[in-house]
This record gives sequence, structure tokens and C-alpha cells, in this order.
Amino acid sequence: MNKNADMLKRREAAVPRGVATASPFFVDRAENGKLWDIEGNEYIDFAAGIAVTNTGHRHPKVMAAAAAQAERFTHTAFQVVAYDVYVELAEKLNQLAPIDHAKTILFTTGAEATENAVKIARAHTGRQNVITFNGAFHGRTQLTMAMTGKAAPYRPKGTPIVPGVFHVPFPIPHHGVSEEDALHALQTVFKVEVGPEDVAAIVIEPVQGEGGFYQTPKSFMKQLREICDLHGICLVCDEVQTGFARTGKIFATEHYDIEPDLIPVAKALGGGFPISGVIGKAEIMDSPMPGGLGGTYAGNPMACAAALAVLEVIEEENLCQQSVSIGQQMVEAIEGFKLANDTLPIGDIRGLGAMVAFELVKTRGEHTPDPEAIAGVIARARDLGLILLPCGYYGNTIRLLAPLTIDQVDLDAGLAKLGESLKQP
Ligand SMILES: Cc1ncc(COP(=O)(O)O)c(C=O)c1O
Repeated sequence: MNKNADMLKRREAAVPRGVATASPFFVDRAENGKLWDIEGNEYIDFAAGIAVTNTGHRHPKVMAAAAAQAERFTHTAFQVVAYDVYVELAEKLNQLAPIDHAKTILFTTGAEATENAVKIARAHTGRQNVITFNGAFHGRTQLTMAMTGKAAPYRPKGTPIVPGVFHVPFPIPHHGVSEEDALHALQTVFKVEVGPEDVAAIVIEPVQGEGGFYQTPKSFMKQLREICDLHGICLVCDEVQTGFARTGKIFATEHYDIEPDLIPVAKALGGGFPISGVIGKAEIMDSPMPGGLGGTYAGNPMACAAALAVLEVIEEENLCQQSVSIGQQMVEAIEGFKLANDTLPIGDIRGLGAMVAFELVKTRGEHTPDPEAIAGVIARARDLGLILLPCGYYGNTIRLLAPLTIDQVDLDAGLAKLGESLKQP
């Protein structure tokens, strides 16, 4: 039996099926935009560990920062003995975030960050209710699973939505939901389900991640800000997937002319080391009482040191500009594939920086989703040595999340492989 098949068998016996893995091979090592499996096969990585390795696999500067920190100490628990790298990272994030006077608390995962943003908003407003959007993804804990706007596969059959969470349609005009429809639905929730004076937070992703890379329209975000201001609701912009140069800005919220109240961040912040956080307006962030926030591993020192290096790399290597350039090249390539007659029908193509996605549809020129076609494309890409990820409320979207440090040769090769994998089988 070959090495991958053997490991797959051991994995099936030892690990529950609930943590599904898209690739039927096991990684041996990874470098910038590429990884190699335990049989020596090479893959170009257009998944970046789900938008984590924006600075590439094992960026030398990030590795050196984590290693240097490991020589000092690896853990004390910030609640027991505090350390400089946590404070330095908080200062840096406060300075970079599109919030006037910010404070930052650190955690470990994205779900923890979004869940704690709600906890902070609840403490600040003295209200319990939360509004999120159809197609949103906020995590897999009980609260964030409820906030997530898609039942299968995230909420096991029969799981009730925890009380106090309400969903509103997300505006996607080509799938029949206009901004007016979404705003009308929000007003209906206010009238039917929960008065606005009783809502702690509206949580929205500037660009939906798992939901399909649909961008929140600028005017919609502006109206949400106005509604939140009118009713004293916290506007939470979940930047777990969009953050750290992925969309061509350090925070995707910078594309909008608004100031959010709270920003959960995670993923690319650590460049492969687990760290997350909530950045928010200082007076809101100080609402929970001492002891009300934290976690044993929250703000791990090695991850803090890595994150500080990630932020330096983003600046030094102009990764925001790189993101825009990669995104343009990707969109142009996909537009080319769309025009070719021998490829599967491609529908909407969208991108903000290097957060690029396209839909597969049943018929050319129409928008009826074709989720069945996705698995075949991903499998063909894998056989050609390219890692792709699906996503989408309708399950018919392929998202491209190449590292922002990817070599031009690998980017070109990856796009050529993508074109091949889209050919009619
Ligand atoms: C927008 C968004 N929020 C929250 C999460 C949850 O993050 P984690 O998987 O680190 O808990 C994700 C993960 O994909 C995400 O994309």
C-alpha cells in the first residue's frame, strides 16, 4: 500500500469523520506557495490553509521570530504573568485598525474571536440579541454555529438555533436578493422577532468567506452603520478571513467609509501560528469586568511574535499591492477561461484583491448554480498538482486564496492548471 493510502486508513481508524479533510494525501513539507506530500508529489497551494498563509508557508522572518520567542519562553498564560509581545501586538493592531481609539484582546481561534466580540457587545449594551446574515460563517462553537447562516453541514440535524440569534438575507443581486430586500428583511426582524433597542450586535463579514466571497455592498454597509448608530447596536465586522492584506488592504473594512465597533481577526494574523483577537473601540472593549475575558492559551507568545513578524512582512513586501496584482491576474485568467468553449460554464466572477472566486452554473450566461460540477474540478486540479477550495451558500463556487508572496512562476503555473481542470470532462 502506498504511503498516502496507508495514512488515510490509519486516519479513518483514529480520527472521527466529523473533521472532514478535502485532500486524500498527507503533507510532508511546505514552502511559500507550494507543498509536497509524503510520496514526494508537488502541489501549488491556492488554499493557503484557508486564508492563513497570506505570507506564504514558513516565511523566514515569521519562523525566525517564533524561534527567537521560543528561546525566551513559550507560555506563562497572560492572565498569570503578562509579556511584552502581547502588548506590542495589541499596540500594532490598534494603530493599524480602522478604529479611532482602539484596544485589542487576543485569543487563539476565529470562532473564539467572533464569539468574544458578541460577548463584549453584550456587556457593553446590556442586551443579548445578535443579528447575522444568510451564508455567513462565524465558527463551530455553539454560539458561532448558530450565528453561521447555513444549516448543513455546520449545524447537526435537529440542532436548534441558540436563543437570541436572528438571520437576515445577505444581498446577492444575481441570486435574487437586492440591498433593498435585505434591508427590508432586517426591518421585518426588528418588527417581528426582536426590537432594535434589544439588539446587542449586527455581525457581518465585509466579504463573505465560506459563504462564497460575496462582497458586502458599500451602500449596504453604510446603512448598517446608520441603523446601528440610531439604535445603539454594535457593528461587528468579522475579518477572520478577509484580514491582513487578503483584499488589498490590511483590513477589508478599509474599503468602506465606516468605522466598525468591533473587528474579530484570526487566520492570516499568525502566518501559520494559532492566534486571533478582537480589536474594538476602547470604551466598548473595556465593558467586560476583569476576569470576564481571556483563555489559558489566548495570545500565545510564539504566535504573538510570529504575528508581529507577519505585520512587518506585509508592509516590507508590499503585500497589499501584491494582493491587488494577484487578484487582477486571477480574474483576467478566469475571464479567459469563461470565454473558452471547451470549459464548464462559468457564472459570476468576483474578487476584492486576492480574494477571488467564481461560480459554476448549469447553462452559459445564466446563474442557476451547478454544485455537482465543483467536486470534479477540484479532483482534476489535485491530479494536476493544484490545491483548490470550494465554498458558497449554493455550493457552486471555487475560491482562490494563493499566498500573497507566491512566486510569479507558481502563480502562472497554478492558473494554467486551473484552466486545465475546468475543461469539460
Ligand atoms: C469569517 C470567519 N469567521 C470565523 C471563522 C472561524 O474561524 P476558526 O475556524 O479559526 O474558528 C472563520 C473560519 O473560516 C471565518 O471564515
